[in-house]
Amino acid sequence: MRVCVYPLPNLVPRDLTGPAVVIDVLRATSVMVTALANGAHSIRTVAEVESARSLADSYPPGTVLLGGERRALPIPGFDFGNSPLEYTKNTVQGKTIILTTTNGTRALETLKGVRPLFIGAFLNGSAVAKALASLGQDATLVCSGTRGHFSLDDAACAGMVSARLQELVPGLELDDMAYTVLSLYQQHQKNLRELIHHAAHCQYLTSIGLEKDITYCLQEDLFALVPQLVNEEVKI
Ligand code: MLT
Repeated sequence: MRVCVYPLPNLVPRDLTGPAVVIDVLRATSVMVTALANGAHSIRTVAEVESARSLADSYPPGTVLLGGERRALPIPGFDFGNSPLEYTKNTVQGKTIILTTTNGTRALETLKGVRPLFIGAFLNGSAVAKALASLGQDATLVCSGTRGHFSLDDAACAGMVSARLQELVPGLELDDMAYTVLSLYQQHQKNLRELIHHAAHCQYLTSIGLEKDITYCLQEDLFALVPQLVNEEVKI
């Protein structure tokens, strides 16, 4: 089995086949994992704010909630921003969440033809590695990045998944990028916060008072679930 890592979605070949994992630690995939762990029925991801509103209108009243961000700030008229801490059991239980974010949901859009397509974050990194190991096929980890730029947080998370996979799959092969992110993770796993405070998006989130989100998103294995995209819905 071989693992390949792409540092940005636009570098992924058009003919990519699954299994693949999309990673946007700060904060889209951390939000998805949290909302589903807290009982959300499913998540629909859309690229544009207006498409999110129209999709919400097509559901029966009371069954959907709108979430997401632009420049990491809540979108006027939406139920949630993009803070995973907002997606509590009380608020999301049984609901479909329509989510639009700058990088994460767009990365998913790029990979929408790939199956299986899993959702990964530090919050469920070991569970993702387990799911890939049990499939036993060559796997691809795709980092969402930030506005077209490489992002340290996503790379370190791809490194975590690679590290766990290496423990589970004897003789696992790594491409050059997988080897790079694995080394990055291994070097910094005891103090991920120290590494990730160098990430531009982390610094931006800190500057607008979202420090708590960062601390939350850097927790490893809070959940053992592996959401995946099935028929346009992200579900457990
Ligand atoms: C994104 O998908 O662009 C991010 O989750 C941005 C954010 O931190 O809100």
